[in-house]
Amino acid sequence: MKNNQSSKNGFISGIGFILAAAGSAVGLGNLWAFPYKTSANGGAAFVLVYIICVALVGSIAMISEIYLGKRAQANPVTAYKKIKRPLGFIGIVVILIPTLITCYYCVLGGWTLRYAVNSFQSIPSANNAVTFAPFVSNVFEPLFYTVIFLILAALIIMGGIKDGIEKSSKILMPALFIILIFIVIYCLCLGDGVKGGLEFYLKPDFSALGFSGIIAAMGQAFFSLSLGMGAMIAYGSYTGENIKVGKSAVMICIFDTLVAFLAGLAIFPAISALSPENLGANAQGPGLIYQILPKVFDKMGGIGQVLSFAFFSMVIIAALTSVISILEVSVQFISQKFKTNRKKTTLIMAIVCGLCSIPITWSVGGAYGGKIVVFGFDLLTFLDEIANTVLMPVGAFFACFSIGWLIDKKPTVNPMKTLNALKNDGLDLGAFSKIFVIMVKFVTPLLILLVEIMGVIGKLQSYGNIYWSIIITSLLLIAICVIVFFAFFYKKDCGTNADEIN
Ligand code: PFF
Repeated sequence: MKNNQSSKNGFISGIGFILAAAGSAVGLGNLWAFPYKTSANGGAAFVLVYIICVALVGSIAMISEIYLGKRAQANPVTAYKKIKRPLGFIGIVVILIPTLITCYYCVLGGWTLRYAVNSFQSIPSANNAVTFAPFVSNVFEPLFYTVIFLILAALIIMGGIKDGIEKSSKILMPALFIILIFIVIYCLCLGDGVKGGLEFYLKPDFSALGFSGIIAAMGQAFFSLSLGMGAMIAYGSYTGENIKVGKSAVMICIFDTLVAFLAGLAIFPAISALSPENLGANAQGPGLIYQILPKVFDKMGGIGQVLSFAFFSMVIIAALTSVISILEVSVQFISQKFKTNRKKTTLIMAIVCGLCSIPITWSVGGAYGGKIVVFGFDLLTFLDEIANTVLMPVGAFFACFSIGWLIDKKPTVNPMKTLNALKNDGLDLGAFSKIFVIMVKFVTPLLILLVEIMGVIGKLQSYGNIYWSIIITSLLLIAICVIVFFAFFYKKDCGTNADEIN
């Protein structure tokens, strides 16, 4: 395997790659979803199960995806074609998923931007107290911030991997971590009320966890680690010999989990110290950061403005570095396959995602006097369910399956033969190799299938029959990917990193 392309347009340092991949992983999933899911699913019991999921499933899938990219030095379609040509259709699926996610993730990024800007509005009592509903139901304001957010992401991608993504990650990720540490320390020093928040967040309750909590932990681990969506394949493709796949994956997993855990350590103690009446079921749902936290900052007086700005700036950094990684997936494929220039491709994809985000914004906010509803869902939930509950495990499954079963040209159930095949191919994880092979071959793919099946069954139970619209749409999308792949990409060269023109 030759990795000589990576120096031309790739990550130049191991730490640059780790920070960029950690930037992809650390996002709204960490600062928003993890804390509320933890408090809703048994506190420390959930954290424990989550850590086990990251160690057993997440890290294995992460190594598989990074290596898939690294060995191919190319976009996900070419990467899968290099495993087995017909599998290239999975490459199309894992390019479609992040593109769908970008369309709604940038809406959330826009909201965050608005909250950060709003932190310094002149009258302290009005600071951030502007309630959520009037803002999201406004026709143009959320769109305006979404566009700004997309422009920021596009500008970084246009700079390329080395000068755009790597450089920005080296500044933004340490900044995020420092802000987070300050906020945690401040919030933990808010007085006696803090204890109630810690209890609310972390009190172990295995009865509240249950099987559904375990499935939620596994799904959260996948989303949080940006797995099954081509992002790690794309970033991995820009790594060269100097970057160790195993070590990098472990560092990314640890960093991602640490940030998620710390976020809860700031959020819940602050709520319980300053606004304990909000520490109920509402704090265990999506209202947490956009509805409850602004009220908490408001109660802090002047310093609340600074803290609000720091907090939402941190969330912007997290969301921005994530959106960069998911937009990059389609930009990489299009520019390599069609030999188009990176800047123009980024611009076109940003415009496409921006246009798609318009109905999503209006759908969530109910602007124009009513919500846009698709089969009973608002558009954001509809796309999120398709991408995360149904399609994402498909992507993660094929990454592990490819590494566990298809690298060796002669299929074998013998893990030792696979181990040798992987070594010959260039993946050597040292002392961890044997465990990795057994996991990637047998355990992780089965656990991913479990997440897929139980996740969908759970959603069918909670949403009822309307959830079939999500399942059917997802299957239709996969069918379209298969048709498009075999009609246009199967026989033709789909490009590699070496084909990029800047
Ligand atoms: N990992 C990000 C988060 O936790 O918010 C979200 C994300 C980024 C999902 C990139 C998927 C992806 F490909």
